[in-house]
Amino acid sequence: MAKKATKRPAARRSARTPGKSAGTARRSGRTASKPDRTARKRTPRGGGMKRLQSAASQRRFALQQRERGRQIGFVPTMGAFHEGHLALIRKARSQCDVVVVSIFVNPLQFGPQEDFTRYPRDLARDMDRARELGVDVVFVPEVEEIYPEGFATKVSVGPLAQKLCGVSRPEHFDGVCTVVLKLIGIVQPHRLYLGEKDRQQVIILQRMVRDLNVDVKIVPVPTVREKDGLAYSSRNRYLSAEQRALAPRLYESLRLAQRAILVGGVRDPQELRRMMQAHIREGDPPLQIEYLALVDPETLEPLPVLTGRVLIALAAELGRARLIDNLLINVPGGRMAEGIAHQRKGASGTERG
Ligand code: PAJ
Repeated sequence: MAKKATKRPAARRSARTPGKSAGTARRSGRTASKPDRTARKRTPRGGGMKRLQSAASQRRFALQQRERGRQIGFVPTMGAFHEGHLALIRKARSQCDVVVVSIFVNPLQFGPQEDFTRYPRDLARDMDRARELGVDVVFVPEVEEIYPEGFATKVSVGPLAQKLCGVSRPEHFDGVCTVVLKLIGIVQPHRLYLGEKDRQQVIILQRMVRDLNVDVKIVPVPTVREKDGLAYSSRNRYLSAEQRALAPRLYESLRLAQRAILVGGVRDPQELRRMMQAHIREGDPPLQIEYLALVDPETLEPLPVLTGRVLIALAAELGRARLIDNLLINVPGGRMAEGIAHQRKGASGTERG
């Protein structure tokens, strides 16, 4: 149980934090020389993960922890945990004194025709996984707690929210930013852990905290994938066995493009798009591509020629599931890199799937 799972690397502490607190000493299995009895009493005990439902109690918890100089790591989720969520939690656990995870299926980020009501929910199992990973608090508010009667103010993201996923989900990122900003206000974290699988979400939230002076550090965590490359997603459970067999084509096509850029020296986005589309559409029945874009990772604007950092992002429909994936690539620049790319191309021949 939690005792076993609380094997953590020494928590990093802020420069202004004096010495180790009683709570940290307890976690690392040692006794503090001068235990602060009040702190010990209020700190969640091993196996005693808290579940909080009200914003007021969650905020109170945060302020107590901050008063003691503890670094709070926050992992916002919509639950139905898979390995991707768990990687975020582990990362937070390895870097912070206190880990808060929220589970809230946010109605504001779902369109009217989307899967809000049938979105997978599995709270009991999620709580077990969180406990095993040594989470301190799981915040599980009701919809009315986050959006009480009369709630009216929303974050308006601007142009970034209209690109890529925003084309088919025009309200989505305003909904994401509104809930994440509210959750930050409630949880008061020092660090916010986000998965790179939802790269546009990371980019937009990074922009939000910069534009609105939100005092939190965003920590992006690499995408966790199944053995065949499919990115873990709560929506993968919508796939039939036949569709599941086709789903890895998305990541395969990203890897094809990556190799064509890095090894084959290809710099033409159209050529890469054609190559990727052909691979994705080879399946039977073919995947329906919603978008496939090679863009600047800051502005999300399409790139006419590939240089510097390039984000390749795509979304496809497979039955009831809408799947997304992406890769961020550093395109080698300068004459020397291009020379090497040409040499490699000569040595390895043309790219194959
Ligand atoms: P959800 O889809 O539950 O995802 C929670 C977090 O897990 C997000 O940061 C997401 O990017 C990350 N994640 C999902 N799949 C991943 C994978 N395969 N590898 C690594 N990380 C992965 O994203 C949301 O919820 C919501 O929009 C939320 C931010 C909670 C706001 O409601």
